[in-house]
Amino acid sequence: ASFTPLTEKDCTSITPPYAVLQQRLKRISEILNHRPLTLAEKILYSHIHNPETCANEGIVRGHTYLQLSPERVAMQDASAQMALLQFMSADLPTCAVPTSIHCDHLIQAIDGAESDLERSIVSNKEVFDFLESAARKYGIEFWRPGSGIIHQIVLENYAAPGMLMLGTDSHTPNAGGLGMLAIGVGGADAVDAMTGTPWELKAPLITGVHLTGKLNGWTTTKDLILHLAGKLTVKGGTGRILEYFGPGVESESCTGLATIANMGAEVGATTSTFPYTDGMRAYLHATGRGPVARAADEAQASGFLRADAGAEYDEVIDVNLSELEPSINGPFTPDLATPLSHFAKVVQENGWKDEISAGLIGSCTNSSYEDMTRAVDIARQAKAAGLSTKIPFLCTPGSEQIRATMERDHLTDALEEVGAVVLANACGPCIGQRGTESTDENAILTSFNRNFRSRNDGNRNTMNFLASPTVVTAMAFSGKLSFDPQRDSLKTPDGQMFKFTPPKGEELPASGFTYGRLEYYPSPSPQPQPDTQITISPTSQRLQLLEPFKSPFDDNSRSELPRMTVLMRVRGKCTTDHISAAGPWLKYKGHLQNISENLLITAVNDEGGEVNVAQDYDQETGKSTTDTIPRIAQRFKARGEPWALVVDENYGEGSAREHAALQPRFYGCLMIVARSFARIHETNLKKQGILPLWFADKADYARVGAGDTIETVGLEALLKGDSSARIGLKVTPREGEAFEILTNHTMSKDQIKWLQAGSALNKIKNDSKA
Ligand code: F3S
Repeated sequence: ASFTPLTEKDCTSITPPYAVLQQRLKRISEILNHRPLTLAEKILYSHIHNPETCANEGIVRGHTYLQLSPERVAMQDASAQMALLQFMSADLPTCAVPTSIHCDHLIQAIDGAESDLERSIVSNKEVFDFLESAARKYGIEFWRPGSGIIHQIVLENYAAPGMLMLGTDSHTPNAGGLGMLAIGVGGADAVDAMTGTPWELKAPLITGVHLTGKLNGWTTTKDLILHLAGKLTVKGGTGRILEYFGPGVESESCTGLATIANMGAEVGATTSTFPYTDGMRAYLHATGRGPVARAADEAQASGFLRADAGAEYDEVIDVNLSELEPSINGPFTPDLATPLSHFAKVVQENGWKDEISAGLIGSCTNSSYEDMTRAVDIARQAKAAGLSTKIPFLCTPGSEQIRATMERDHLTDALEEVGAVVLANACGPCIGQRGTESTDENAILTSFNRNFRSRNDGNRNTMNFLASPTVVTAMAFSGKLSFDPQRDSLKTPDGQMFKFTPPKGEELPASGFTYGRLEYYPSPSPQPQPDTQITISPTSQRLQLLEPFKSPFDDNSRSELPRMTVLMRVRGKCTTDHISAAGPWLKYKGHLQNISENLLITAVNDEGGEVNVAQDYDQETGKSTTDTIPRIAQRFKARGEPWALVVDENYGEGSAREHAALQPRFYGCLMIVARSFARIHETNLKKQGILPLWFADKADYARVGAGDTIETVGLEALLKGDSSARIGLKVTPREGEAFEILTNHTMSKDQIKWLQAGSALNKIKNDSKA
C-alpha cells in the first residue's frame, strides 16, 4: 500500500543498540558452541547482562535463570502507582532505562469520550497528579489521560525489532508485533529495570508456530490467536515464548501480528514474537520511525532479527491460515473456542438467550487502522442496506493517533451513522469500567482479549464472548448470538434480504497517520527534575506510602518459616482477577491497605464450595467463625499469626497485577502451596517475600485444609544457597495425625535472598546501603 509517513521522529532513544546486542550475542553463540538459535533466543540472549555468567553452564531452555538488561519500561496508570511507590523507596535520582507512564486504565466508559474523560480526570485527580509529578521528578515520559492505551502507544512510538522491554501489564507482549520481546511483569520487576538491577527470567521454552497459507474472507489474525487459544488452553504457553515463522507471517500486517502477540497472554505465554517483515518496515516508516527501520534493515542483513537455519523449537504447531475460519471464544474463559459456523448450535445446546446486550470493538488488541477500516466496511454495507445496529455498539480507539486518523478519514462518522458510540482513547469497558448495576444474565461480544467473569462490566452473570472486530460489528446489526454473517441474511427496512460480503480493510492510511491533539504527546527523553515535590496526603484513600514487609528471618536463629495456619483451600480457576478484583477496586491500586479488602473475594472455598467464605478455627476449642475471606485474613493479621494458602492449578493466571501478591503478604501470608502456578504471579509472590511451593504429588492438595498448621522442613538448605534443596511440609491437621508431604520449588539463588530479606525491595535497599 502507498502511504504518507509521519514526519520522521528523533529516534535516538528508541533504536536498539544493534551493534552492542550482536556483539553480546556473538559471545553467547561461542559459549553455546554455535548451535543454531531461534529468534526469541537471539533477542533474549543478546540482552544478557553479562554473557560470561553463562560461560560455565551454558544456557538450557526451561532451566537456566538469565540475568537480563531490558532497554525500556512502560507502565499503565493502575500498576504504575505501586511501581513508583516502590521505586521511590530506592531513593535514586532517575530511572536507569527510558520509562513511560500511560493513563488509560482509570478512564470510565459511560456516555462518550469527552464527558467520560472529564469525569475520570476529576475523580482520579489525586492519582494522575501523583503520577505526573513522579514522572517529572524522575524523567519519565508521561502520557496523560486521553492520549491512548499503553500497548497501542508503545507500538506506535517505542517498539522496535530486536528490543527487550518490560511493561507492567499482561498485554505488554502486543509490541511483539514489531518483532521484539515485550514481557508483562509486576511493578516489582519493572522496578528492577528502573533501578538498573539485572532482571531475572528463567530461559523460556520456545514453541514454534509455523504459519503457511493466507487468511481470507472473514478470517483475521484475531481468529488465528482465538483458534490457538482453543488449542493450547490458558496454560499451554506457560513458561514459553511463542515464536511464529513460515511464509504465513510475511502476508500479515504489523498491527495484525500485534493482535496475535497481544493475546499470547491468554495462553499464558511469556511473550510472542515474529521475524522482521516488510509489514513491520512499512509500519515503522508510517509512524515516523524511518531511522529505526533503516537500522533494523542493517541488523537483519547481518543475521539478527530472524532465526538461524536449523534452529530447534521445543514444540512446533502447524497452522494453515487458508483453512482457518472465524472463531468465537467464551464465555468466561478465552480458550473455549467455537468456529463461527458452529456457534448458533452451541447457543441452542446451552439454552442461552439468543440476544446480545452490547458489542464492543477497539481496545489495545484490535484498534489498528486495518481493524477500523474493516469494521467500517461492514458498517457502510449495512448502512447502504438501510440497517443500523440493534444493540449498544461501542468503539474504543487505542490512541489519539488512531482516533484522529479515523476522524480525518471519516471512519468515525461511518461508525456513528449506524449507531456506534466512540469512547475515549482508553481501556474503558475492557477493564470493568463500563458502569452497569445490572446482575442479569446477558451476553456481550467484544474484540478485546479477556473474558473472565465480571471483567467487562462488573456483573458476574455477563457472558462475554471474544471475536474479531469485523464479526462483532456484523453481529451488532443482528443483535442475536446465533447470527453467522458468513451465512445468514438480515431483513432490511424495505423487506429485502441482505447478506454481508467479506470485509476489506486498509493496512495503513493512504494519507498517512495524523498526530491529532499535540498536547497529548510528552516531550521525548525528558530530563529529571529532582526538586519536584511528590506529595501523598496521610489521609489519602487512594495512595499510601509503603511500609517494608518484615522478614520472618529477622530473628537470626530461625532457619525455617514460622509455623503457619492454612487460611483456606482455593478450588479451581483462581486468576489474579479472583485474587485482587478490578472494576471499582482499581481506585485503590496505590493504597495497599484499602485494596486488600478485596482479597480473593471471588475465589471458591474448596471445603464447602462457597464464594468468598472462609473459616477461622479456634485452635483450643476447635470452634470456627465464618466470615468473608478478607475479614478472616484481617483477623490473622490482627493476631500476628502467619498463614498459608492451598491452591489449585495455574494459580494466578491472567493479568500481571502484583497486588495479587502484595495483598496476601500485607495480611501476613508467608507461603502458598499450589498444584501449579502461572509464571508472572509466581515471581510476584517471590518478590513480596511469599514462598511459592508446588505439590510434588498433586493429590496432596486435597489432604490439607483450613485450620491445619504447616511447618517447612528442609528450608534451611535452601536458605544456605542450595537451590536444588527439596522442601517438605509437616502438616498437622485440625483432627488426626500429622503427616509430611514433599514439594517442588522454582526459587533461584537470588530469589532465595528476597525471601530472606522479606521482599525483593528490602534486598535492593539493603544492597544500596551496603
Ligand atoms: Fe487496557 Fe484492556 Fe488492553 S485493560 S491495556 S485495553 S487489555
